[in-house]
Amino acid sequence: MKTIQWRKNKVRIIDQTKLPLKLAYLDLDNLKSMWWAIRKLKVRGAPAIGIAAGFGVVLGMRNSHAKTSLKFKQELKRVTNYLRKARPTAVNLFWALERMERQVFAHHHKSPSFLKELLLKEALKITQEDRDICRRMGRFGAGLVKKNDVILTHCNAGALATADYGTALGVIYEAKKQGKKLKVYADETRPVLQGARLTSWELMKNKIDVTLICDNMAAQLMKEGKIDKIFVGADRIAANGDAANKIGTYSLAVLADFHKIPFYVVAPVSTFDFCLKSGKDIPIEQRNPQEVREVFGKQVAPKNVKVYNPAFDVTPNSLISAIITERGILRKPYERSLRRLK
Ligand code: MRU
Repeated sequence: MKTIQWRKNKVRIIDQTKLPLKLAYLDLDNLKSMWWAIRKLKVRGAPAIGIAAGFGVVLGMRNSHAKTSLKFKQELKRVTNYLRKARPTAVNLFWALERMERQVFAHHHKSPSFLKELLLKEALKITQEDRDICRRMGRFGAGLVKKNDVILTHCNAGALATADYGTALGVIYEAKKQGKKLKVYADETRPVLQGARLTSWELMKNKIDVTLICDNMAAQLMKEGKIDKIFVGADRIAANGDAANKIGTYSLAVLADFHKIPFYVVAPVSTFDFCLKSGKDIPIEQRNPQEVREVFGKQVAPKNVKVYNPAFDVTPNSLISAIITERGILRKPYERSLRRLK
C-alpha cells in the first residue's frame, strides 16, 4: 500500500477521504489539484503533506516556459507561496518547500530544463528519505515497548500519514516485527475521524489487534488500568519540545500525567521548528464548521449552530515523557536535548 508515489509522470495518492469504505487512488497531474488534495485531507499527516508539497512543486513547474533561470526562480516562488497556503500547522510542508527552493537557488546558473529535473529528483529523495526515517524511528521507539503492552494512539500517524509505515504506528509495527505481542486502542478522533476511518483500517489490514474507542472514553480506560503507553505523532514541535498534534492529543497527555502513563511523541526531525521558541507560536489551523456539524457528511447538529473547530492542539513539553526521532530518543529538558538536532 503506497500512500503517495510518483507514477507515470503523475502523483498517485490514496484518497483518504474515501477510506475505509473504498480504497481509491487519485492521479494528480497539476498544481491546483495537489493544493486541493492537501487542503481537503485527501493526502494528510505531516510527513505525507511534506512529500505532497515537494511533488506539488514538480507539477507546478514542469510546464514552465521560463527561458532564463531568473524567470524560473520567480515562477518557483509563486508556486511555493501558493502551496504554503494549503495548510498552516504541519511544518513538514514548509520544510519541504524550502528544500525544493534551496535546490534551485543552489543551481541558479543552470538551464530551466535542468532545474525541472532537479526538482523531481529532490521530491523523490524526500520520499525515499521518509521511508528510511520511519524505519529508524520505529526501531528506536520499539525499544520502549514491552511484550503484551496495551497502547493508545490518536488520529493517524501510520502508513497513511507517511511514505512508509508511519511514526507512532511505525513503533507498533516494528515492535510486532520483533515478536512483541501488542494490543492497540485507537481514538476515533473527531471531527473527521482519522482514528476510526484510517487507523483502525490500517492496523486491521496489518493484522494488529486494534479496538476503536470514542475520544471521550480514553479517561475511563486509563482509570481501569487498561493502557500501558500512549504513542502519538506530531505536526510541529517547537524548540522547547511543545508539540502540536491532532486536536485531542493535549487532553490525552493531561490524562496520562494524572494516571502516570508514559506519553510518547514520535516525529522526524523535519517536524521540528527551531524558529519557534515555544508551542504558543505554532499556527493552529481552523477548519470548516461543517466538519463539526456533520459526521461523514450527515448533519448531526442544528444547521446554524456556532462551531469552534481548531484542527490541532499543543501539548506542553512537561507532559511528554520522550520524543522519538530518527536520530534517537530525546528526553527532558528538551531545550537542551533538541539543540543536538539542529
Ligand atoms: O489533519 P491531519 O489528519 O493531517 O492530522 C494529522 C495528525 O495530526 C497526525 O497525528 C500527525 O500529522 C502525525 S503524522 C505521522
